[in-house]
Amino acid sequence: QAWRASLLWFDPHADEPHPRYEADGLLVTAAGADGVRRVVAVGAFDTLRAAYPDVPLTERRGRLIAPGFIDLHIHYPQTDVIGSPAEGLLPWLAQYTFPHESRFADPAHARAVARFFCDELLRQGVTTALTFATSHPGSVDALMAEAEARGLRCIAGKVLQDRHSPDGVRDRTEQSLRDTEALIIRWHGRARLGYAITPRFAPSCSDAQMRGAGELAARYPDVWIQSHVAENVDEVRWVRELYPHDRSYLAVYERFGLLRERAVYAHGIYLDADDQRALAQSGAAIAVSPTSNLFLGSGFFDYATARAGGVRLGLASDVGGGMSFSPFATMRAAYTVGRAAVRGDGRPKTGVSLSPFDLWWQHTAGAARALGLGGVVGSLAPGSEADFVVLDPAATPLLARRTAQAESLAEWLFALIMLADDRAVTEVVVAQGPGTQIFTGGASAVHAGPP
Ligand code: GUN
Ligand code: FE
Repeated sequence: QAWRASLLWFDPHADEPHPRYEADGLLVTAAGADGVRRVVAVGAFDTLRAAYPDVPLTERRGRLIAPGFIDLHIHYPQTDVIGSPAEGLLPWLAQYTFPHESRFADPAHARAVARFFCDELLRQGVTTALTFATSHPGSVDALMAEAEARGLRCIAGKVLQDRHSPDGVRDRTEQSLRDTEALIIRWHGRARLGYAITPRFAPSCSDAQMRGAGELAARYPDVWIQSHVAENVDEVRWVRELYPHDRSYLAVYERFGLLRERAVYAHGIYLDADDQRALAQSGAAIAVSPTSNLFLGSGFFDYATARAGGVRLGLASDVGGGMSFSPFATMRAAYTVGRAAVRGDGRPKTGVSLSPFDLWWQHTAGAARALGLGGVVGSLAPGSEADFVVLDPAATPLLARRTAQAESLAEWLFALIMLADDRAVTEVVVAQGPGTQIFTGGASAVHAGPP
C-alpha cells in the first residue's frame, strides 16, 4: 500500500534528532512473510511513484504522516486514576493508586480497563507502549490479549512489590518470581508483544525480590526491565534510609543487575553525575514523564545535564500520575519542564528551549532507541514497521490559523505541538492485525452531567 502526504520522520539510528521531511511525499509499505507490514520505500512523490506505479495509492495531501508515537512509560491500570489530587507521590500511591490497582485481582475488571486503554492509546496515535500492569499476573494476560487483537506493540509486566505495599497489591517473593518467568515464557516475543520485568520501585521490593528480578534479567537478556527512579524528594530520602549502604537510588538497581540495555527507568529527576555515567555506560534509559512530574509536583527534569552525560531518554505520559494520553500534551509539558531553571529540590538547572524536532524525536525514534528498537519502530525509514499516524493540521480553528501562519517547518511543527490534541489524529495505522483505524474525533455521544 502507498500513501501520499507530507512526511516527517527521523534517522532511526542516530543518538540525536536528524529530521527527514518530504512536503509531497510517498510512503510505500508491504507485508512481510511474518505478516508484519514494513516500509519498503519513502521519498518524494514525483521521483518515487514511477518505481511503484501499481501500488494502490491513498491520497492524504494536506495532512502530515509521521511515525506512530511511543509511550516509554505508562500504567494501564491507572487509567481511572488520572486527575486524583494528593500531597505528592507517596500519599497519592497510598490514597488512590494502590486501592485502585487492587481491583485488578478481578480478571473481568482487568479486561474492561485493558480494552479501554488499548483503544485510547491508538485513538491518540500511540502505537508502541511500555506499560506497567499490576501485581496480579492476570492483569498482564488481560492487557496482552487486547493489545494483540489490535496489533499494538505492547511491552508490559507484572509489578513486583513484596513489601511496603498494602494487602490487595502486595505479592509474595517466590511466587512473584515464578509468575514473572511464566509470563515471560507466555508472552515475550509473541506477535508484537514483549515482556518487561517490573520491580515497582526500590522501596517496594525486598532484597530477595530484587535479586530474583536481576537473575531473571540476566537469564532473559532480550526481555525489558522497567521501574521508577529518583522521582520525588520524599521518595529519594526514603530510599536513602532503606538502602544506607548504596551510593545512590540508581546504584541500588545497579547492584542487583537491573541496569542494562532495555532497562527503562521513569523520571530520573534527582540524579547526579555518577548516576548519569552509569546510565550512559549501561545503555539503560530514562523515561521523561513531564505531565506526571507537574501534576504530582515532583520536579523538573534536567535535560542539559542528562544530555551532557549521554543518557538515552524518551518521552512518556506516566498515566495515571500523568494527566493525558496525548503525545501532544506530553511534548508540550516537556518543553515547559525544559525551560524551568530549577529542579525541585532547590538546586538550579540550566533551562533549555527544546526544538520541535527534538520533542518529536523523543516521542518516536529517540524513544525507540531507548527501547533498543531503533530501526524497528519510531521511524518511516525503509525497514521500519509500518506504524504511523495521519495528522490534520486544520483540526481546530486555532490550530488551522497558527499552522497556516508558519513560515518554516519548525514553526509549523511547534504550532502542532502546542495546539494539537486527539482531534488532529484522523487515522492510525498499525503494522500488524487490523491495519488502518479511522477516527473522526470526539468521544462517546453519551455524556453524564456533573454529580
Ligand atoms: N513509584 C512507584 N510506583 C509509582 C507509580 O505508580 N507512579 C509513579 N508516578 N511513581 C511510582
Ligand atoms: Fe510511573
